[in-house]
Amino acid sequence: ESTLGAAAAQSGRYFGTAIASGRLSDSTYASIANREFNMVTAENEMKIDATEPQRGQFNFSSADRVYNWAVQNGKEVRGHTLAWHSQQPGWMQNLSGNDLRQAMIGHINGVMAHYKGKIVQWDVVNEAFADGSSGARRDSNLQRSGNDWIELAFRTARAADPSAKLCYNDYNVENWTWAKTQAMYSMVRDFKQRGVPIDCVGFQAHFNNGSPYNSNFRTTLQNFAALGVDVAVTELDIQGASPTTYANVINDCLAVERCLGVTVWGVRDSDSWRPEHTPLLFNNDGSKKAAYSAVLNAL
Ligand code: XIL
Repeated sequence: ESTLGAAAAQSGRYFGTAIASGRLSDSTYASIANREFNMVTAENEMKIDATEPQRGQFNFSSADRVYNWAVQNGKEVRGHTLAWHSQQPGWMQNLSGNDLRQAMIGHINGVMAHYKGKIVQWDVVNEAFADGSSGARRDSNLQRSGNDWIELAFRTARAADPSAKLCYNDYNVENWTWAKTQAMYSMVRDFKQRGVPIDCVGFQAHFNNGSPYNSNFRTTLQNFAALGVDVAVTELDIQGASPTTYANVINDCLAVERCLGVTVWGVRDSDSWRPEHTPLLFNNDGSKKAAYSAVLNAL
């Protein structure tokens, strides 16, 4: 096959990218994105601050720009993200306790109603665990509202749109030996045992020199899949864009039947949230990097 999306489709998977609405008017960007990818995640446009800037007043103008571009070009969309400690609008940052829980429910219902039946996977909760060796939840206003805020979010999301796969998404959870990975695993196992509606786990896979790729990532994906959830690589970028490391990640996903697909977090290095890492598959001029060929060959 000659594109990433078509190559991934050979095994029933997808190959996606983050899309920034403001870049769609850049014809180099838009033509590469349209040619290579068959899954889209809005890089920022479906986040809480973008979609509910004032409490109860939803604004989907930027989100719909990304959604409509994707669907008009034959792509599917991952929703990102409904409940998160970061990129909260000011009004939500100032809430706590039951008021915040009600606001979270209202937000999930409002966004999921707008896209009901249109989103294949939703990142319902993002980044709820702390880094380091504690295995604890990350401190946030949501966490302080009650330890059950995550399952409350998933139950609300299932009722709002039963057709979407509901995912928990996090970073630094690719290495099986890390406490954060183990904590996430315990939560997903507990959710499956108690019937909390969770369908998938997203591994962001922002690999860099401080938290590099480890070959036990495949074990991690296998162990989560064995709990009865799908898995996905949701925000892949690799500092330095080693072709070997990129191929390893692809091979890890392909080795796990329940791995749905891979999304890279941007198109060209200059589109990356960490451009100094040159972590993506395309050069700034739109040409393909060595990592691109490695990924295409692995798929
Ligand atoms: C990043 C975006 O790429 C940036 O443009 C924005 O300024 C901050 O957020 N984990 C996530 C993504 O789940 O939403 C983040 O995206 C990157 C880390």
